[in-house]
Order: sequence, then structure tokens, then C-alpha cells
Amino acid sequence: MDRNQIESRLALPWEPKAVRRRKYILLLEGLTVSFDGFKALNNLDLALMEGELRCVIGPNGAGKTTMMDVITGHTRPDTGEAWYMDSINLLEKDEVFINLAGIGRKFQKPSVFESITVYENLLLALKARKSVFSTLTAKLSMPDRDFIEETLALIHLQSLKSKQAGALSHGQKQWLEIGLLLVQQPKILLLDEPVAGLTAGEIDRTAELLLSLEGRHSLIVVEHDMTFVRSVARKVTVLHQGAVLAEGDMETVSCHPEVIEAYLGGAEC
Ligand SMILES: Nc1ncnc2c1ncn2[C@@H]1O[C@H](COP(=O)(O)OP(=O)(O)OP(=O)(O)O)[C@@H](O)[C@H]1O
Ligand SMILES: [Mg+2]
Repeated sequence: MDRNQIESRLALPWEPKAVRRRKYILLLEGLTVSFDGFKALNNLDLALMEGELRCVIGPNGAGKTTMMDVITGHTRPDTGEAWYMDSINLLEKDEVFINLAGIGRKFQKPSVFESITVYENLLLALKARKSVFSTLTAKLSMPDRDFIEETLALIHLQSLKSKQAGALSHGQKQWLEIGLLLVQQPKILLLDEPVAGLTAGEIDRTAELLLSLEGRHSLIVVEHDMTFVRSVARKVTVLHQGAVLAEGDMETVSCHPEVIEAYLGGAEC
């Protein structure tokens, strides 16, 4: 690939590949995924800075979930590259490795253990992580109990910690699931439609929660709810037909003629 192609694709000044990899916690380049000849991803690029909160939007079938499938090792692309923390080639790693290496993913449907309490759910997730790392990085920087309490406060479930998880509202279960990821101390959090089915109040609290994670974690948030996206948007990537259609702040992407045509319809501009 020549210099002009790279510049036009990444919308960044040209630089040697090694420099580019060092700059981003996650770098996807030229990913293509085909299902029976249909390209779910078509030469997709995405570069995520450490601590960044990135929103990814786009119409149904644009390839948003498929992109997460590739990052997490669930789907192998036909072509392209995916680098994590400079030197980890995600395309050579399996799902378990990628998760343990610090990429946590939340699916749309919450999957918490319903029959145990909120606190026990968090404790279990923490212990699971520690048991895997017992010989490597077993020591947490603070006692487990404090760490769980801190996480409970972040996810607004402190007062419900003794409640059975099955009795939580849909929104509270979503927050608990984010908490289960957080106690595993991920570097990158991938959240696929985190506010689907939530009430307006719950959506606001989720926005607050995600903003509080910015800087400590790198986040990719896929969402269709534009009110929510506007409330957390920093840099926004618009996917369409498996590729990046536009990237920039909310105002820039919502007024982009092709984004208006493909997805937003102009009302946001
Ligand atoms: N395992 C699969 N087999 C065949 N086609 C698939 C598979 N997974 C995804 N696709 C197709 O790839 C395209 C992209 O799907 P994907 O789920 O990534 O879209 P999305 O942007 O997440 O959409 P939505 O907003 O509806 O969740 C769709 O046309 C989908 O039908
Ligand atoms: Mg999807």
C-alpha cells in the first residue's frame, strides 16, 4: 500500500507502520470479512487511542458487531491486520487469550448470574480473573473488598449489593455486567448497544458511567440511540457497508452528506 492510500484511508499523516502501531492501543487496518461472498467488513480501518471513548454508529448490517467479533478473536478476517498494544497481533490469538490480555466485551443481552447477589457476581468475576493470573499478576493494588466497593459505586449499585441479581431491572443488570468487566481490569471495553431497552433515566446514568471510565479504559461503544451517542460523543466513527463512511466529532459526522443519506437523515444536523 502506498503513502497516498494510507493517508486517504486513515485520514492521518503518513508514518511508518511501526510508529503507527505504537501510537494506538488498537489499530485495525484493511479488515475484510466475507460471508458467502458478502462483505460484512470491507477494508475497514480504525485507530483507537489509549483512554479514548469512541462511539461507532451506522445502519443495521453496517458491520459494527462483526468488527467486535474480529477484535475479540471470534471471527477471522479474510484480509487485514489487527494490532493491540503495539505488539499483540490479535489475528493470531484466540478469544480466551484476547480476553485475558485485557479486551472485555459486553453483548447486548446482559448475562449475569441471576441466583446470586450483585456483590457475589462481582466477587466471582474478580476471583475468576485472579485465579487465571495467580502466578503472573496476582496482586491487586487494593484489597478485593475495596475494589468491589469502588466498582459498585461506579456502577450505581452500592445500595443493591445484597440483592439477588435476578431481581434487578434490565438497566441495573446492564450496569452489573459492565461491573463484571471492570473488576477484570480491562484495557479496552467493547460495548455493543449498552442502552437498548433502558429507560431515559437509566440511559443518562449509563452515559455518566461511561464518561467516568474514559481515560482509565479505552472504550468502543456501538449504539443506535442518537440522544445517548450525542451525550457521550467525542470522536464518532460511522460505518456503512463494512467500511468507515465518516469520522470526527458529532457535528461533523451528522452533517456529512453521505452520513445523512445512509443513516441519519439530516435531522441531527
Ligand atoms: N455469521 C454470519 N453469517 C452470515 N452473515 C453474517 C454473519 N454475521 C454477520 N453477518 C452479516 O454481516 C452484515 C453485518 O452484520 P453486523 O451484525 O456486523 O451488523 P451491525 O452493524 O452490527 O448491525 P446492527 O446495527 O443491526 O446490529 C449483516 O448483513 C449480517 O447479516
Ligand atoms: Mg450489531
